[in-house]
Amino acid sequence: MSETDPFRKFNIWFEAAVATEPKLPQAMTLATVSADGRPSTRMVLLKDHGPQGFVFYTNLKSSKGRDLRTNSNASLCFHWKSLGRQVRIDGSAILVSDEEADAYFASRPRGSQIGAWASEQSAPVNTRDMLEARVRDIMAAYEGCDVPRPPHWSGFRVTPARIEFWQDRPDRLHDRELFECDGGNWHAIRLQP
Ligand SMILES: Cc1cc2nc3c(=O)[nH]c(=O)nc-3n(C[C@H](O)[C@H](O)[C@H](O)COP(=O)(O)O)c2cc1C
Repeated sequence: MSETDPFRKFNIWFEAAVATEPKLPQAMTLATVSADGRPSTRMVLLKDHGPQGFVFYTNLKSSKGRDLRTNSNASLCFHWKSLGRQVRIDGSAILVSDEEADAYFASRPRGSQIGAWASEQSAPVNTRDMLEARVRDIMAAYEGCDVPRPPHWSGFRVTPARIEFWQDRPDRLHDRELFECDGGNWHAIRLQP
């Protein structure tokens, strides 16, 4: 029986990926577009998902952070090689709430929390030593206390308008099922491979 709810279908596929992929089933490509219309892609990690959207965390001053603040269009792509599956998600990215970002930041290992303060992600750095010196300074500054979430570090939730599920099939006659959202209702169509 084919699934009519794309979020339920994503859940089933994601759980299968978690069970079978040897490494990082939550890794996804994120495509953004700069203010002057140039696309760029990089990997990020899916940290939450559901009907509200697909969440990842990052430095808001990074290239992707700046792109999304000027153009909220975003595209995500998972490739689960062991399963021969791809999922593409196109939508619009909005910041998660401060409470949500605080809760996730608090759950991260302390080293990652320190790193979020130390790295001006996507800005040039002359030497690795400079970065490591900054890490030591921040460790000293927060010694004995909790590390708060940096104001420039948060999450984006990509609210999808389209979700396409691709399943590898013999003779390149793959299955492609595209769900599109129309006025809050999701409709599925099949695409040729
Ligand atoms: C598997 C993998 C997962 C990653 N996850 C994240 C992530 O969740 N958030 C993040 O900011 N960068 C993550 N990165 C690093 C990004 O790919 C990228 O190098 C960095 O965010 C800077 O991107 P930008 O300059 O386009 O903003 C990850 C890289 C890899 C290879």
